[in-house]
Amino acid sequence: MTIELPVEQPFLPTREHARFVEFAEACSRYRYIGVCHGRPGVGKTRSAREFASFPDLRGYGACNVIGPTLAEKVARCKAIFYTAGVSNTPKTIDAGLCVNVTKLGYARLTVAAGSPEGVDIDQAQLACPLVIVDEADRLSIKSLEELRDLSDRYRFGLVLMGMPGLEKRLARYAQFYSRIGFVHEFKPLSEAEMRLLLATHAADFGIGFDPAQLDAIEAEAAVIRITRGNFRLMERLFAQMRRIMSLNRVEEVTADIVQAARDCLVIGPGN
Ligand SMILES: Nc1ncnc2c1ncn2[C@@H]1O[C@H](COP(=O)(O)OP(=O)(O)OP(=O)(O)O)[C@@H](O)[C@H]1O
Ligand SMILES: [Mg+2]
Repeated sequence: MTIELPVEQPFLPTREHARFVEFAEACSRYRYIGVCHGRPGVGKTRSAREFASFPDLRGYGACNVIGPTLAEKVARCKAIFYTAGVSNTPKTIDAGLCVNVTKLGYARLTVAAGSPEGVDIDQAQLACPLVIVDEADRLSIKSLEELRDLSDRYRFGLVLMGMPGLEKRLARYAQFYSRIGFVHEFKPLSEAEMRLLLATHAADFGIGFDPAQLDAIEAEAAVIRITRGNFRLMERLFAQMRRIMSLNRVEEVTADIVQAARDCLVIGPGN
């Protein structure tokens, strides 16, 4: 029996990702709290995970010797990436984060020193520069308080990621709000960047648009109009287009195929 696991499209380095990196690095450097908001499907989570490069530390125990593969991952890691659970409480936040803050701190100091000898727990707990919390809209006031307390204690920068309106919701909690240093809007791809990505990464989308064919130019314009730079919509639209093209044994893409694919999708106002 073969079991197919979902495969992720390769990461595309977009301008919005570069803007996010700059924002997250500022939160890390100044150890501030930052809020990043954006509409569903624009690529917040993927960008944050790519930036954080948070390694799997489940098999690592503080004070362990670190092998070269993990050492390389730890050296590349810029943040802990944590997804707030649907039913979060201060206890679950504490359990999910504290261990990783300590482990990552230990691992970073160990890699920097070349050996776990003499790594101090107090120093290790201050050696995690940034924690990114995804789905922060789910956080209750008590969980936010817990995060604020942890970030004060361990002095890590904190990035909260969520939907537009998150920053306004946080304004109600004065102590939390007063620590927010940066607010960042994660935007959809611009039209020019979509054209560039479709031209340079056609293989990743599984469909190419020949710039010398009128049908392909019209199809590309239709993709841009329908998806408005939203990554998730692009993925869903391209999947339908590939399906329709293979069912009909068509090789060349046209605006009609894009429209037929669009008619199969549910596109809500939030997209
Ligand atoms: N730079 C990128 N390169 C390749 N694929 C991307 C990129 N950004 C996003 N994607 C893909 O687009 C889809 C939506 O992205 P993601 O889940 O990050 O959106 P989101 O903004 O976090 O949405 P939500 O608000 O619903 O959580 C995912 O399948 C993701 O893999
Ligand atoms: Mg997300």
